[in-house]
Amino acid sequence: MTRTEIKTPRFAWALTGSGHFFKESLDIMTRLPNLDVFLSQAAEEVLSMYKQQLNLPEGTRIFKDRTASAAPVGNFYYGVYHTLIVAPATSNTVAKCVYGISDNLATNVFAQAGKCRVPAIVFACDTAPELDTEAPKGMVKVYPRRIDLENTAKLKTFDDTVVVESLAELEQAVDERLICLKSLSS
Ligand SMILES: Cc1cc2nc3c(=O)[nH]c(=O)nc-3n(C[C@H](O)[C@H](O)[C@H](O)COP(=O)(O)O)c2cc1C
Repeated sequence: MTRTEIKTPRFAWALTGSGHFFKESLDIMTRLPNLDVFLSQAAEEVLSMYKQQLNLPEGTRIFKDRTASAAPVGNFYYGVYHTLIVAPATSNTVAKCVYGISDNLATNVFAQAGKCRVPAIVFACDTAPELDTEAPKGMVKVYPRRIDLENTAKLKTFDDTVVVESLAELEQAVDERLICLKSLSS
């Protein structure tokens, strides 16, 4: 299979184990056509803790983190994806992405997107010194550390990577990407 044989390239969406804007990210995900979802192991656990289900459009494929080699990322080499979205991204995932670590499905998807020049949108969670976030039992306050804020800033310097810090920014980035894809296909 070569890049030119892919008739309908897809969105790749990596879901990580962040409670911050987890449900809201799922809502945006359900609006996207031609979607593959990649779950980190923590994302699978958080899904059940927040009692969420993935009600995704027909044809959506879900890849779980079951292999050491992140086997499902192979599709990036063949032009299957036009866009990667990592949302929400834990501080753990952001840190690994910044330092080039790819040791699970979510971080491998980010690394392979970069190596295959697939544009990425990352919704970083720890973006302010003080945040209100939704825990399974309700809202709580968290205080991201300096290292978390620094890592988010470093990720913004990556090529082909848009880092968003709010739900509104995520929606806007996804909408802009959809418009861009439409103009490329017409
Ligand atoms: C209910 C729950 C909510 C969590 N929310 C966050 C969060 O908002 N931000 C964050 O960085 N980590 C959060 N975590 C911790 C991550 O799940 C944990 O760091 C995990 O190792 C991340 O793995 P991943 O980055 O591979 O998905 C949460 C954990 C639980 C159990």
